Formats: sequence, structure tokens, C-alpha cells
Amino acid sequence: MYFNSVIIRLKWRQKTFGLRSLPGLLYNQPSVLVGRTDVASVTPWLAPIIWEGTFDPILIDSIYKQQNLTIPTTVFALGKYTRFVKDFLESAEQHYFVGFRVHYYLFTDQPESVPEVKMGENRSLTVRKVQSLNRWQDISMSRMETWKKLIENELASEADYIFCLDIDTKFYGRWGVESLGRLVGVIHPWFFDAPRNRFTYERRPESQSIHSGGKGDYYYAGAAFGGSLEDVHHLTKTCREKLHIDAANSIEAVWQEESHLNKYFLLNKPSKLLSPEYMWRDIHAKAAQIKVIRFSNVAKNYAEVRPNP
Ligand code: GAL
Ligand code: MN
Repeated sequence: MYFNSVIIRLKWRQKTFGLRSLPGLLYNQPSVLVGRTDVASVTPWLAPIIWEGTFDPILIDSIYKQQNLTIPTTVFALGKYTRFVKDFLESAEQHYFVGFRVHYYLFTDQPESVPEVKMGENRSLTVRKVQSLNRWQDISMSRMETWKKLIENELASEADYIFCLDIDTKFYGRWGVESLGRLVGVIHPWFFDAPRNRFTYERRPESQSIHSGGKGDYYYAGAAFGGSLEDVHHLTKTCREKLHIDAANSIEAVWQEESHLNKYFLLNKPSKLLSPEYMWRDIHAKAAQIKVIRFSNVAKNYAEVRPNP
């Protein structure tokens, strides 16, 4: 009993004791004067926005290496979306938290369809069967409940952070520990250079996700978000409740759980934002500000791949 509590306390101390750096590590001098000038790398509430050139991968990897982290990462592949699993996992093994412990949780209605993918050291895949649903909107929204339960029932004692990603995607560049934070949102690739009146927020007052005139900071993607287990648990619990209220009032937000996620982030500001480098679209023209495409939505025929229009 006593022994256990000492272990727990030591673990806690180690995890929360700042950003420790190795004494012998060599890395470039950080500059006070030189940085990205073509993009904002901090929000008005002083959360960093992560772009290529704002972090040193060698330094940041070495800091987080000392924290003995596990990163559970969830994806959902239902119906024809199972075709995306192979590329997602293979590319993640090349680029996603390389050198760190990653535990993928794949939720699917066809566990038998999951291909063999060679995993690196300290990387594992758990496949979970879920019920298939008739509408992609319902599949998408039902994830809030699954995330909430997964965190409550399984992850609470075994991990620190979680990321929730779409499966119809591929990694092309590094996605690493620079993305870790208490509450992490990703700026949607379609609207990063748009005024907020063009953001596709829910505007109807009947929905719990309403953004009324003039409100809203950024438009966040529903296809990727994450953070500490505690914060993501609160997020998923809250959004799930709001989705239930909307359903009881016979209203479905314009972009389903993405609309509720945006409302959540309006009221609970993310502590870190990832630039659209972390959620691009293969069909998108290049933009000068995007120096590296790290993660991208793959081109697909929506009508063919979705169960309903
Ligand atoms: C699209 C995306 C949708 C939703 C929408 C918001 O690019 O495919 O999932 O995010 O933008 O306007
Ligand atoms: Mn998607």
C-alpha cells in the first residue's frame, strides 16, 4: 500500500516536473529576433500555433523522451472507409511520433478487413468492433461517445495524451511531440486565410453549437484534435451532451460534431493550435505559408465511399 503510493507520487513528480533538457545536447541557438514573419505563431490568448520553423525537432524530442509517454491514437473505419486503413497506418509508422510509444485504437464494423501492418518497436494496434450505422453523419457524431468511454474505461491510468484522427488521411511529414498540449485544436485547411464570417460555423440558434454574429476565433477541423486525457475527456463528454440535446430538439448541426467542437473551442480555448500543416487536403493547391504538409485528407469520391448522401 505504502509502496504503491510512493511509486504513484514519484511518477507524478517526474511527469509534471517541467521541460527537462539533457545536459550534453547540441542544438541551434534559439533567436529572439528571427522567426516566422509570414504567419502568426501565437493566438491572442497566448497559445502557440505550430508551424514549420517554430520548433527544434531535436531539442523537443529529447525533452519529451524523458517523460516516458504513451500516445493513444484513435481512428474509425466503417463501411468502405476500411480501404484507408493501410495507408494511414503505414504512413503513421513513417511519420507519426516516431521513436515514441503509440497505441492505435481502430474502431471498425469489419475487424476481419484490417490488413497486417508492420509496427515499429513500442507501437501497437488494438482493433475494436463497433456497430455499423446507416448515415455517415451518425458515424461521425457517435465518435464523441466512443472517445469518452474509451478514456473513462481504459486509458485513464495508462496514458497521458490522446489524439483523435480521421482515417481518410495520410501522413507525409513529421507529426511529433511538438503537437502535445493540454487541449490541442487543428486549424482547418479551407479557412485559415478567411474572415470569420465565411467560417462554416453553425448559425442557427436552435443548435447548442451556435456561433452568433461576430463570434469565433478560428475554424477548427473535426478530423484531428487531441490533448491531455483529462481535457479531451471533458471535451468529448460536453460535445456528446450537446449532440444529445440537439437530437432531442430535432436539429443536426451543419457539420455535426465538428460544429460542436468549434463551439467547445470558442468557450474552452485550446492551449496549443496546430497549423494546417497538420491537416491539409491532397486536392488543395499549395499555399506559400505551408512549408511542410504533414498530414492530409486523401482524395476520394464522397458519393462512392459514404453510405448515404
Ligand atoms: C470540408 C470537410 C468537412 C468539413 C467542412 C467544413 O472541407 O470535408 O468535413 O470540415 O469542410 O466546412
Ligand atoms: Mn474525413
